[in-house]
Amino acid sequence: FPSDKTRAFGKLILFGEHFVVYKVPALVGAVSAYTDCELQYLDEPGLEVVDNRPAVPNYKQQKYDEGMEAINLTLNHLGVDTKKRGIKLTFGGDLCCASGIGASAAQVVSLARAVNHAESRSMTEDEINAAGYEGEKGYHGTPSGIDNTAATFGGLLRFQRTDGAPIFEKKSLPSPIRIVYASTGITASTTKVVGDVKAKKEADEAWFSNLLEQYKVLVDDGQKAIEDGDLVTVGKLMDQNHALLQELTVSCKELDDLVAAARSAGAIGAKMSGTGRGGLMLAIAPTEEIQDAVAKALEALAPQVWKTTFA
Ligand code: PMV
Repeated sequence: FPSDKTRAFGKLILFGEHFVVYKVPALVGAVSAYTDCELQYLDEPGLEVVDNRPAVPNYKQQKYDEGMEAINLTLNHLGVDTKKRGIKLTFGGDLCCASGIGASAAQVVSLARAVNHAESRSMTEDEINAAGYEGEKGYHGTPSGIDNTAATFGGLLRFQRTDGAPIFEKKSLPSPIRIVYASTGITASTTKVVGDVKAKKEADEAWFSNLLEQYKVLVDDGQKAIEDGDLVTVGKLMDQNHALLQELTVSCKELDDLVAAARSAGAIGAKMSGTGRGGLMLAIAPTEEIQDAVAKALEALAPQVWKTTFA
C-alpha cells in the first residue's frame, strides 16, 4: 500500500439513520472497502481534482457540486490555501460510491489524511475526524457526524451526537456478521431527505416522539443482542427499524422490494441503510450459503450487490 495514498472506509448503519440526527444512539459498521486520496503539489496555484472512484451510474454527476464544496470546506478547515500553492488531488480505492455507503465521508476523511501526510502534521485521529465533519457539511448541510466517525475509526461503533462533541465507543463482536448490501441505483439528496423529516417532525411533534421512543428501546436491545452474538434478535430488530423508517417516510418501493426479497431468500433481518428514498439496503445472513442465496435474489432486482462481513 503506497504511503502517499491515505485510506478512509465506507459504512453501513445497522440501527439509527435519521433518528441519530436527534441525538439518540446509533450503531454503525465500517466496511472494508475504502476511498484513498493522493495529494501532489503543483507548480501553479489552483485546485485540480481527479476522481477515479468507482460509482453507481449518475452518482458522481449528481454529487459533483456538493463534492467540490466538501473538498473546499475540508481544505479551508485545514488552512490549505490553493491560491498560494496549487494541489492536485486524486481519489481512488475500491469503495463503490452509492448513496448510503458513506462515500462522501470517506472522501473528505481520506483528504484530511492526505493533507496530514503531505505536510507531516502529526494530526490526531480526532483532528482527522473533525476535518471530515467540516467537509461532510458540503454534502449534508447538518450532518450528525456518524459517517465521518465510521470512516475515520472503522470497526463497529456506537455513536451519539450531543450538543458538544459526539460520544462514540468501539464495540467488539463475539462472532462475525455476514452482510449483503444492495444499491437501488437511485441517488438521494441527504440534505433534502433530512430536511423533509425535520419538517414532518415540526408539523407533528407527538407523531415523531412516538417513533423516537420506539427507536430508543430498539437500539439498546440491538446493542445487547450484538454483544450477546444473538443474530436472530439483531435481525428481528433490523426488521423493526426498517418499519420505523417506513413510517418516517424515508423508505421507498425499491428499498421495500429489496428488503422483502432478502428476507424471502433467508436473510434473518433486512433494512434500508443511510439516507433512504433510494440509496442502499442491507441484510444479514446466518451462513455463507444463505449469504450467497440472498445476494443472488438481490442481483435479480438491484443494479449492484455486495457481500461483506462485520468482524
Ligand atoms: O446516506 P448516507 O450514507 O449519507 O447516511 C446519512 C445518515 C443520516 O442519518 C440520514 C444523516 C446523518 O447526518 O446522520
